[in-house]
Amino acid sequence: MDIYKIDKYTKSLIKEAAHNIKASLTSELIIESKSEANDLVTNIDKETEQFFIKHIKADFPEHRIFGEEGFGDDIKDLAGYVWLLDPIDGTTNFIHQKQNFAISLGIYKDGIGILGYIYNVMEDTLLSGSLNGGAYLNDQRLPMLHPTTVQEAVIGINARWVVPNKSVHHEGMVNLLKTVRGTRSLGSAAIEISYVVTGRLDAYMSMRLSPWDVAGGMVLANEVGAVVTNLAFEHLDLLDADSFIVSKPGLHEQLLKEYIKLK
Ligand code: IPD
Ligand code: CA
Ligand code: CA
Repeated sequence: MDIYKIDKYTKSLIKEAAHNIKASLTSELIIESKSEANDLVTNIDKETEQFFIKHIKADFPEHRIFGEEGFGDDIKDLAGYVWLLDPIDGTTNFIHQKQNFAISLGIYKDGIGILGYIYNVMEDTLLSGSLNGGAYLNDQRLPMLHPTTVQEAVIGINARWVVPNKSVHHEGMVNLLKTVRGTRSLGSAAIEISYVVTGRLDAYMSMRLSPWDVAGGMVLANEVGAVVTNLAFEHLDLLDADSFIVSKPGLHEQLLKEYIKLK
């Protein structure tokens, strides 16, 4: 299988899907909530996933698809080619802001990430990368990231973790917020990962993300020397939801050893 052909094909699929999403912005959305009131899905999330699946199944019939909205395959392992797709990452932003949402896609072969994409739809920026082939922001190759310290870092983090919660000891998070240069919360895991890859953020963490939120970003992060683990400093298996951190080297160890203590 020619990786360059798949890459070219995928980029044009992403652009077409994004074009359809943008065209939908003037029509009324059908909004439903999934597991809880703040877990939203729209008809456009579903249509976008179906658009990808229709094309991938027609052009790569032996490939499997692990998509958020459940129209793909029932994935229990990562054997062969698996496309991990979040058709719209940042659905709340899509609904409320009509910006700051992304198409997030990772293509894995036997569990190894070979291609990764994060397309910020309204910004029209495509972050793409391939295993050992580097990461690109549109056509521009991204430089390797340099180590940094907590004191000099701007990190992506959700404010809910600095109050008592069931996932993490909030005292360490309060201490972290007092120490870092700044914090941001963008509402799209994929965009926040893309910000670490491009150096706009020094780290991003979440207590719970799904494989499709992070699969594309993980390929990109590896290509610029960012470190990715769960918050227990373990490898992510991309089959189940897990905690997540992507960070510049050095900072990663400091954050996990000195500030983040899971419950
Ligand atoms: C969500 C966003 C959000 C993150 C959530 C994700 P969705 O994805 O990435 O930033 O905090 O955990 O589920 O539902 O908009 O695709
Ligand atoms: Ca998502
Ligand atoms: Ca989504």
